[in-house]
Amino acid sequence: MAEPIRVVVTGAAGQIAYSLLYQIASGAVFGPNQPVYLHLLDIAPMMGVLEGVVMELADCALPLLAGVLPTAKPEEAFKDVVAAFLVGAMPRKEGMERKDLLAANVRIFKEQGQALDKVARKDVKVLVVGNPANTNALICSKYAPSIPKENFTAMTRLDQNRAQSQLAAKIGVPVQNVKNVIIWGNHSSTQFPDASNAVVNVGGAEKPVPAAINDDAYLKSAFVTTVQKRGAAVIAARKMSSALSAAKAASDHMRDWFLGSGDRWVSMGVVSDGSYGTPRDVVFSFPVTTANGKWKIVQGLTISDFARQMLDNTGKELSEEKQEALDVCKD
Ligand code: NAD
Ligand code: LMR
Repeated sequence: MAEPIRVVVTGAAGQIAYSLLYQIASGAVFGPNQPVYLHLLDIAPMMGVLEGVVMELADCALPLLAGVLPTAKPEEAFKDVVAAFLVGAMPRKEGMERKDLLAANVRIFKEQGQALDKVARKDVKVLVVGNPANTNALICSKYAPSIPKENFTAMTRLDQNRAQSQLAAKIGVPVQNVKNVIIWGNHSSTQFPDASNAVVNVGGAEKPVPAAINDDAYLKSAFVTTVQKRGAAVIAARKMSSALSAAKAASDHMRDWFLGSGDRWVSMGVVSDGSYGTPRDVVFSFPVTTANGKWKIVQGLTISDFARQMLDNTGKELSEEKQEALDVCKD
């Protein structure tokens, strides 16, 4: 058995963490032979609730769980961690856009960036889940200048999973038969779920998703808006934001980053290098492949006029969010 690795989850007393912690501690993220020492960060008033979560983790009797550290101190929580799931932030309510959370949440990511900068390993892999996830990840990275920018990512894997699931249902195949659907841009209602390069395995033969569906209007409208608005639809139904599926997506994202994505493309919000004419220095979701703990943007894809418009639109929103976040952080 390997030596335990230290992994932090923030917002550890909240609803996403309630599903995520089991997945991490059961081996679904770092593999079946990798013990984990869990650091659980939440705010001081939640320490009582967190104690209950710690009890439940113990009661799961998980062989890979080497220890648990519940704390309200970021510098204790981030010490020596190799992976950070930054979940802790306010969720939106019905009728809000995710960017409406910016002023309330971005300060959390400034403070946590500063703490990571001070005490975390320089190779820590950071996944920001708390909304607005892309801009929070950017701010976190800005306040942690000693950690490479490549180590800060935002979660759009939930959107990817939603998109893949919609396409599989439409074609009538199991979800794993669909691959290479892309989420471009912001984890917001301007995101661009793009099936133009996706492929599907139908009866043992691979074919392009657009050919299998043969309905361009669906792929440009109903498919796109269903994925863009899925978070809001879950909130309208549950009166709370997605948690089970968000935790699963966070596990998928970190697992692929650590263990590799194989020949599949996955979508991750990463600091943009300007690929595909996107604004530089915003956290933009791209198709990536991952290997040896590193991600690489898939290059050379054709961008149609429709896609160009969608990429520009979501890029513009990210540039505006960035400016607003920088203004908030000045205070
Ligand atoms: P929740 O309210 O159930 O839990 C959030 C937890 O974070 C609470 O326990 C709260 O006390 C804690 N918290 C607040 N400030 C903190 C701080 N400074 N440090 C540490 N912990 C802090 O919310 P949730 O449903 O778990 O959602 C968490 C966030 O994830 C929200 O912002 C939500 O919008 C976002 N989210 C993102 C995605 C995505 O795809 N990127 C998906 C679902 C939810
Ligand atoms: C989601 O996509 O479900 C989350 O970002 C929560 C939300 O506010 O939509």
